[in-house]
Amino acid sequence: MAGLLKLGVLISGGGSNLQSIIDHIEKGALPARIQIVISNNPDAPGLARAQRHGIACTVVSHRDFSSREEYDSELTRILKDAGAELIVLAGFMRILSGGFLRAFEDRVINIHPALLPSFPGTNVQQAAIDYGVKFSGCTVHFVDEGVDTGPAIIQAAVPVLPDDTADVLAARILRQEHRIYPQAIRYFAEGRIIKKGRHVEITGIGDPDRAVLHNPPLDD
Ligand code: GAR
Repeated sequence: MAGLLKLGVLISGGGSNLQSIIDHIEKGALPARIQIVISNNPDAPGLARAQRHGIACTVVSHRDFSSREEYDSELTRILKDAGAELIVLAGFMRILSGGFLRAFEDRVINIHPALLPSFPGTNVQQAAIDYGVKFSGCTVHFVDEGVDTGPAIIQAAVPVLPDDTADVLAARILRQEHRIYPQAIRYFAEGRIIKKGRHVEITGIGDPDRAVLHNPPLDD
């Protein structure tokens, strides 16, 4: 079908974000098509999700390559062959080289389970709890050569509550990941993203006052 944004989705694990993207596409809420799912991990449960929905998927294990550049050029080849227009990292736990990013300039996005630039890297839910922040959340961002440093497209904030464990907070954040990732891809599909250096503007948004949050809530 014409007009659908062609996606290449990279995963390493459970694939719940992949599932959310599939579900949004299937219910007609996201004008996109997943051309291919690639996992670097042969045991990723997300592969079965793709198969269940008849989506092409393949394993490209980094263990079979002697350098990051060789691995990334194989990914590039597969994604180009599949006609992917937007590369969606959905729990893909590898850094991508400059060569890969140049092959898909401004066309690689990632989701991270914290409010960047706070808490980049791994084990970030525990880090947010340990720091004592009142909000954490998730960020969809363009990927650059740093670790979780690219320009933010959309963020969702969730409260951090006194009894939270890392797992409880991760689950609260994940529920919002499943909402903002399809939304960010939809911005792309609808041509609503204007990127100027680090600043990403989305056209046609609603009332910005709806985005204000307080935790704990205000008394009035
Ligand atoms: C998600 O929480 C995602 O934000 C995180 O891995 C999880 C994957 O879950 N990604 C990163 O930490 C990348 N730096 P999923 O496989 O169920 O989508």
